[in-house]
Amino acid sequence: MSENTDPSRRDFLRVAVYGGVVLISAGVGAFAVSAPRVPAASGDLLPLGPLLRFKGLDTGMPLEARVTIQRRDGWRLRTRPQSVFILRSGEGATAAHYSAFSPVCPHAGCGVHAEAEEFVCPCHDARFGLDGARKSGPSPRDLDPLELEVREYRGEDWLYVRWQDFEPGRPERIARGA
Ligand code: FES
Repeated sequence: MSENTDPSRRDFLRVAVYGGVVLISAGVGAFAVSAPRVPAASGDLLPLGPLLRFKGLDTGMPLEARVTIQRRDGWRLRTRPQSVFILRSGEGATAAHYSAFSPVCPHAGCGVHAEAEEFVCPCHDARFGLDGARKSGPSPRDLDPLELEVREYRGEDWLYVRWQDFEPGRPERIARGA
């Protein structure tokens, strides 16, 4: 794996959404904005941040964004941070100009990471193109794409992702909880 060793670049690519607050390191500093609070579970639409912040992404360069998944388990609310890969695929201000992939490997559920030209799973060395297509290794299918939407929030366009868990180990894509 060739880690991105440029700290300013690495910092620029960090996006975090925690408990309704978005933090984006932008190399020269960070900003925090209030994010819409949404109940989150598999299949829910989660805020990633103002669309403006994603327009500076290099085309085809994956950004690792983080959202918080919340699940109600009886009376308890369980939360977990979750990464999502976002790529800008062209000029424009609609969700169609971006794509998102789950970082959960379709083989057995390990977390894939982004390298220069591909996504790689460290568990059994599955490799995927930056378009999510399977290149080599034991994964039975391509990376799982996630739906993106642009919605208005307080007068600004925001990018949202619909988080979904999928069954690993199967060639067909089956949403969990569907
Ligand atoms: S879990 Fe990813 S290759 Fe096996």
